Amino acid sequence: MNILILGGGGREHSIAWAVLQNPKCDRLIVAPGNAGIAEIAECASLDILDGGAVAGFCEAEAVDFVIIGPEAPLAAGVADRLREAGVLVFGPSQAAARLEASKSFTKSVCATAGAPTAAYGHFIDLAAARDYVRTQGAPIVVKADGLAAGKGVIVAETTDAALAALDEMFGGTFGTAGAEVVIEEFMTGEEASFFVLCDGETALPIGTAQDHKRVGEGDTGPNTGGMGAYSPAPVMTQAVTERALDRIVRPVLSEMVRRGTPYQGVLFVGLMIEAGVPRLVEFNARFGDPECQVLMMRLGGQALDLMLATAEGRLAECAVNWAEDHALTVVMAARGYPGEHERGSVIRGLERCPEDSFHQVFHAGTARVEGQFVANGGRVLAVTARGATLQVAAARAYAMVDRIDWPEGFCRRDIGWRALR
Ligand code: AMP
Ligand code: GLY
Repeated sequence: MNILILGGGGREHSIAWAVLQNPKCDRLIVAPGNAGIAEIAECASLDILDGGAVAGFCEAEAVDFVIIGPEAPLAAGVADRLREAGVLVFGPSQAAARLEASKSFTKSVCATAGAPTAAYGHFIDLAAARDYVRTQGAPIVVKADGLAAGKGVIVAETTDAALAALDEMFGGTFGTAGAEVVIEEFMTGEEASFFVLCDGETALPIGTAQDHKRVGEGDTGPNTGGMGAYSPAPVMTQAVTERALDRIVRPVLSEMVRRGTPYQGVLFVGLMIEAGVPRLVEFNARFGDPECQVLMMRLGGQALDLMLATAEGRLAECAVNWAEDHALTVVMAARGYPGEHERGSVIRGLERCPEDSFHQVFHAGTARVEGQFVANGGRVLAVTARGATLQVAAARAYAMVDRIDWPEGFCRRDIGWRALR
């Protein structure tokens, strides 16, 4: 079959790699893709936020199946437009993607479904929001309601910091995303990401992971899109996983069906776990980046069968074939990230890294200039390895990092520390 993946980061490179392991894939196109993806698939330039343009491309190129990587096309309704055009698609409708695109929507769904999450208030007015912060006190969490490219959450240690965050949000720093805010109780515990495929009715867990959001070792410094990840996450024991499915995932999916907007795609369940009890931090309507890289490394070619079954409503007949393995990915970023950083520095030594079912360097932001790979983003590479233990996976990933010659880049040397300590 002919398959189109929308997106161009490390997440989409890993999905492309997994899809190509499956003999069902005859032709693979990625839009827009990146220089690493171009090594293994065709790349097409296409406005991926324009559902009509994507549907037209699918017709012209006889695309049978579309996998939507990032949240922006989901929130823009690209999946709806493709379904109307009769194209098989992996990814939720615009209405169901509100589980990521609107925090107040998610809070109201959780309230109806009885899913445990932080206590909260929802505000469209600065004065009322300020009053709420003053009565609740700190620490407290201030969130822009809409999509803010991962930057719309402020964990405030003091009341003053929370009030300043409110001023910024209502002052328009996050555009319309901050015109409404959710203010949440600060939850303590250990975070983990739980990934569940949903075909509307059936939920099938496909793995757990832990991200490393802070830029610096020991989880210090500013927040990033994610500096590394590993799977599975030991904190997600079988008991915690079952509890998250029973108390959070299934009730929320049922509530989405009851509302007439069933959820189809991957549900990224961000959890805070304390004393064996998971509470919801947030949902995303897509795979995480870099969490996807470790999940794809572990799933391999079956990822395509599972995504197809999701799109066709056949998850009830599916099971995941798990190897007893671990995967770990180290993000290499351009110096300065998540702040100002340069583009265009040359990355050497990639050809010295092995490429097999245990080792892959996924490209997050690279371009090809005069035959060389150059940095073309903040997060640039996701150096990913698999092994029988997390120790082996980590050693393999860092051995690859050490072969890459890129003085203008950096990475955290402690990815996996919680599980390795
Ligand atoms: P998000 O952008 O929604 O993933 O939030 C970013 C990060 O903020 C999360 O990964 C958590 O570390 C933290 N966070 C969000 N909400 C809460 C909360 N209610 N309590 C504690 N930490 C939170
Ligand atoms: N790595 C976190 C995310 O993709 O949202």
